[in-house]
Amino acid sequence: MSKLKIAIQKSGRLNEKSVALLEECGLKFPNGGGKLITESSNFPVEILFLRDDDIPQYVEQNVAHIGIIGENVFLESQKQINIVEKLNFSGCRLSLAVPKETDYEGISFFNDKKVATSYPNILQNYFNENQIKATIEVISGSVEIAPGIGLADGICDIVSSGSTLLSNGLKEVEIVLKSQAVLVSSQNLDEEIQSILNKLLFRIRSVQKAKE
Ligand code: PRP
Ligand code: ZN
Ligand code: MG
Repeated sequence: MSKLKIAIQKSGRLNEKSVALLEECGLKFPNGGGKLITESSNFPVEILFLRDDDIPQYVEQNVAHIGIIGENVFLESQKQINIVEKLNFSGCRLSLAVPKETDYEGISFFNDKKVATSYPNILQNYFNENQIKATIEVISGSVEIAPGIGLADGICDIVSSGSTLLSNGLKEVEIVLKSQAVLVSSQNLDEEIQSILNKLLFRIRSVQKAKE
């Protein structure tokens, strides 16, 4: 019998709540111990623990059938996958931030500046829409240290509690987009997999309703 393969984040902001959602749906599975793949003992699913940034690609290739990621990661990836459901957790913003002592008077500040980010596609669109010509420096992590080490004049990254910005001497100046966790799916599901997904979706929606 086939199993629905679900990709969730291995560690980070989305991991705990993704695991919690699946558990609230009644799925029993071993979690922890560093295993990167596990299966449920009471529902036909396999759970893959991956880097969130890699999940859109796995789902596009149908290696994972569905995944839980931030809308920000979905948009940045530009992969051919579908959002099936917004999950109402892990809300955050993708924001521009600058050193807190910067005299910031508006978005034109970013003209001819360097901005470090892991979200070059979303940021470039945003700058285009606002007619800003800036240089985007792509880095994959610890973006918040870029201004302090002279790599960039500002950053564009995820802000949740704001504590990472604070501890790196930065202030949020523009919100580029608001994001939350979403369930994404492959566009190539066969019938059997689709019917397992429908059962899981029914449970997810019941869990969400109960929280309203
Ligand atoms: C984001 C961002 C910061 C942190 C901000 O990382 O890159 O590191 O969260 O959160 P805070 O405002 O609560 O301090 P994310 O969870 O997206 O993980 P990743 O970049 O490692 O995938
Ligand atoms: Zn990530
Ligand atoms: Mg990060």
